[in-house]
Amino acid sequence: MPTDPMGEYKLAVRYIRERLGSEEHFPLGLVLGSGLGRLGDSMTDVVLIPFADIPGFGKPYYSGHRGNLLCGTFAGKRVVCLQGRLHYYEGYTFDQVILPIRVLRLLGVETLLITNAAGGINTGFAIGDIMLMLDHINLMGGNPMVGNQHPAFGQNFFDMGEAYSKRLLGIARKAAAEANITLREGVYIAVSGPSYETPAEIRAFRTLGADAVGMSTVPEVIAARHAGMEVLGLSLITNMAAGVTDAILTSEDVIEIGHARAAVMEQLAAEIVRGL
Ligand code: HPA
Repeated sequence: MPTDPMGEYKLAVRYIRERLGSEEHFPLGLVLGSGLGRLGDSMTDVVLIPFADIPGFGKPYYSGHRGNLLCGTFAGKRVVCLQGRLHYYEGYTFDQVILPIRVLRLLGVETLLITNAAGGINTGFAIGDIMLMLDHINLMGGNPMVGNQHPAFGQNFFDMGEAYSKRLLGIARKAAAEANITLREGVYIAVSGPSYETPAEIRAFRTLGADAVGMSTVPEVIAARHAGMEVLGLSLITNMAAGVTDAILTSEDVIEIGHARAAVMEQLAAEIVRGL
């Protein structure tokens, strides 16, 4: 274990900079969720570094996630992209889940566009809809900042009143309108998984004010806000949540809808990035 509390982050950053052969700063970061990794394929001038190569990074076990860090150009802007993420349900600690986000911060990221697959709780939603995350509810069972507050990133107690940037929400709404893409908006509730929810849980979550449910994103957003990044979250509704319809939930369907909607997600993300 490094004795410098920032050591684990610095090691990862040093390794990435070596592979890049540059000290370039990347003000924009992307995180690609389940089934959405293909967006990374449309980047150009890419340096691809497998998570497994980067000191301190875990490797996603789940087949819907590729687990690469990509530095390159997307929609005319320089970006650093996590093609896949680490999940709490894979057995990673919250520290491990948020390590890549802190590394992005050290690589220069100030604006973070984060995507995920989610189950629709709001009965007005349909499979394939894209939801702008207006806010979240953390029911994952823990906060990633517990015992993990490096002053180099941010303050101990920090505001979460605007977890999802109003400015970026405005840009996303405009981008969607210009690209003729219908957007839903709502609150994302995060659970640990890996089991899907029961119908009773979904009814309870609806009562709590949630519109979509997923197993990721919230720890990363907390870490990003701690470090002062501006965040935009997009959820792809890959299924209706348990009990909303009679369908049996499977991860294969989640991935399939991700692939089916990849082009639209990419078009929207590109339009948003151009609007930044
Ligand atoms: N529940 C939790 N996580 C999910 C779901 C769901 O229905 N769909 C995609 N991720």
